[in-house]
Amino acid sequence: MKIKSLTNIFWLLKNQKQIKNWRKRNFTPPSPEFIKHKIIENNNLDNSAWIETGTYYGETTKILSNISKKTVSIEADKDLYELAKKKLSKFKNVELIFGKSENILLDAIEKVLDYKNICIYLDAHLCHDHKRNIKTFGDEENATPIKKELYFIEKHLEKFEGINILIDDIRLFNNSFQNYPKKNYLVNWCKENNFEWEIEQDIFICKKIKI
Ligand SMILES: C[S@@+](CC[C@H](N)C(=O)[O-])C[C@H]1O[C@@H](n2cnc3c(N)ncnc32)[C@H](O)[C@@H]1O
Repeated sequence: MKIKSLTNIFWLLKNQKQIKNWRKRNFTPPSPEFIKHKIIENNNLDNSAWIETGTYYGETTKILSNISKKTVSIEADKDLYELAKKKLSKFKNVELIFGKSENILLDAIEKVLDYKNICIYLDAHLCHDHKRNIKTFGDEENATPIKKELYFIEKHLEKFEGINILIDDIRLFNNSFQNYPKKNYLVNWCKENNFEWEIEQDIFICKKIKI
């Protein structure tokens, strides 16, 4: 059998469970992890540092490590942070920071000012921890720090040639779930800061290239 067919079979076997579950949900969002990871890879910029908020079990952090020279990931749940630290200790270009994204994001961006481009994956929020079957860091009223995160990102917009910001879980941005603002909040933020925007699956993507 050809190597290409073997690779395809391996890929299908690896992702079979996620595809089946997604089909059961009639392909509604959120999309499986492997699709989110493809969208992230497709929106990488050359010579870019990546910042992720919400490390969780570090699965996306590994992908970011593979496509970037430097990845910084922030996690506010102490147990998850400790776990990810052990799990990712071999990934030498990954820096994990413990704390709330809204307190640390500015420092994290300041660590990568030398890079031509920056990509940011905003995914810090209260969620259900499927492995431990408990809630992660956060409470219902302050479930997402997204408004503060965007406010801090604004401070360094001029420092990079290219900036891609990927905001996960866009389906939740309807002003009636926890403290998620409306989608329009993100659209207006893009307009005010001269970003183009688009939505792929469940991810809102803001793009800015310096002219
Ligand atoms: C949906 S998970 C992140 C998934 C991860 N990015 C991935 O792709 O595998 C959300 C994570 O954000 C963390 N979190 C919640 N509020 C936070 C905050 N204010 N700052 C940093 N992390 C936070 C939670 O503890 C949880 O681990």
